[in-house]
Amino acid sequence: MTLQFSLAATSPETAATACVMVGVYEQGVLTSAAARVDGAIGGAIKRQVESGDISGKAGSTTLIYAPAGIAAKRVLVVGLGTQKGFDAARYQKVATEAARALGKLPLGEAVSWLTEVDVPGRDVAWRVRTAALAADHAAYRYTATFKPREKSAQPELAALAFAAGPEAETGLTQARGIAEGVRFARELANLPPNICTPAYIAGQAEAFAKAHDKVECRVLDHEEMERLGFGSLLAVGRGSSNKPKLIALQYHGGAAGTAPYALVGKGITFDTGGISLKPGPGMEEMKFDMGGAAGVLGAFVAAVTIGARLNLVCVVPSAENMPDGDSYRPGDVLTSLSGQTIEVLNTDAEGRLILCDALTWTARTFQPQAMVDAATLTGACVIALGKHASGLFSRHDDLAAELLAAGEHTLDRAWRMPLWDDYQVQLDSGFADVANIGGKSAGAITAACFLSRFTEGQRWAHLDIAGTAWDEGRKGLATGRPVALLAQWLLERSEK
Ligand code: BES
Ligand code: MN
Ligand code: ZN
Repeated sequence: MTLQFSLAATSPETAATACVMVGVYEQGVLTSAAARVDGAIGGAIKRQVESGDISGKAGSTTLIYAPAGIAAKRVLVVGLGTQKGFDAARYQKVATEAARALGKLPLGEAVSWLTEVDVPGRDVAWRVRTAALAADHAAYRYTATFKPREKSAQPELAALAFAAGPEAETGLTQARGIAEGVRFARELANLPPNICTPAYIAGQAEAFAKAHDKVECRVLDHEEMERLGFGSLLAVGRGSSNKPKLIALQYHGGAAGTAPYALVGKGITFDTGGISLKPGPGMEEMKFDMGGAAGVLGAFVAAVTIGARLNLVCVVPSAENMPDGDSYRPGDVLTSLSGQTIEVLNTDAEGRLILCDALTWTARTFQPQAMVDAATLTGACVIALGKHASGLFSRHDDLAAELLAAGEHTLDRAWRMPLWDDYQVQLDSGFADVANIGGKSAGAITAACFLSRFTEGQRWAHLDIAGTAWDEGRKGLATGRPVALLAQWLLERSEK
């Protein structure tokens, strides 16, 4: 069941709903909606502020049940933190915590007045969109591989309305589409690697194409790629009985004949490291190594759902990196689709080996206006940027600026890293045109440098999402990043 969103043109005292949500700042400053409710229920909010029961701390929540004087059954008072310094990131955090608290209550619907809160530089459509996406994120549950459970009798949050006028309608439309894409990406990435194989991802893409008019899907299997010369991509998949696929979705949402935008996503459905085997502890997290694929597919789903007016292709090279008698090995020299030869020095640097052929193929097949890849490419990027920012690499300043801005807008942020030619010598090889690793230092940059050699001079950017695609740990879930960033970038590229 997906959460339904709408706009509400009522007042917090008269809204006949299971719950109204209102904001309170630290130091006892009530938002206007909170003040109206407070007046109607005889000052109960102010009294709890004075007693210290309501702190106003950012993300804190306090429930008032069945207060006399308003039509709603409950009031959820949401702390906004200090009024000074209240910004977009805080708004998102508060909206997420409010949605979490709401999800724990036995109610099916609620109306939020948090959208009234002033956020510097952001309009009401943004506030509605951000609150809706935060709520959808909080409402997501992974259930696919648990024993089916009896539905609990407790009602589940099914509808959330936001206090805003019709000018916020675009925010809602965008939120619905992006939420659809984020959910698609999270579900695909969370699936275990024995289910989510290259063939499974291909099946999901084909099913999406079948259900949408302007979308077509083409899947190249390993035999066709053999004929076409995908020597690098195929080497990575050779050790697995789950054979590699190249998945290409096309969306014809723009004028016929205009060059498409292209998204390319790393689809390693499991990364053992191959013959350069990874250590055992935590290896299960390498099921998320198709997070780039999930992210670009999710952005594609979002763009199609919103009906973006542009032509778009989404290309996913997918393989499983396994040790086997038939695996590729350190020392192997591969001939990539581009014709450049690659010396394999580490079979665990496999992402770049499937992406290089996919980038070459995408550039040659579609001559896109711009090509953006997303990949859980390097542990080095996690060391550099942690879990908050994706690494952005591009030689094209205008494209980099567009992507950074889309990340800021959606708070799905990226941070630009250098891609100077100075680093390229680290990839020198004595036996091939290029080596697949660049040594100890600047691992995220040399990985990007490697990719840059296969982009055929196209406008291209690379997002390293190794730190942002999932929450680490035993129960860590896919985050759905960078769906919001990419979807926002595409919406801004839509034809007027
Ligand atoms: N999928 C990994 C990168 C990764 C590691 C993502 C940890 C998220 C968390 C990638 O295929 C990989 O193994 N990269 C190696 C590259 C090295 C061999 C040059 C790495 O980062 O250690
Ligand atoms: Mn690897
Ligand atoms: Zn990998």
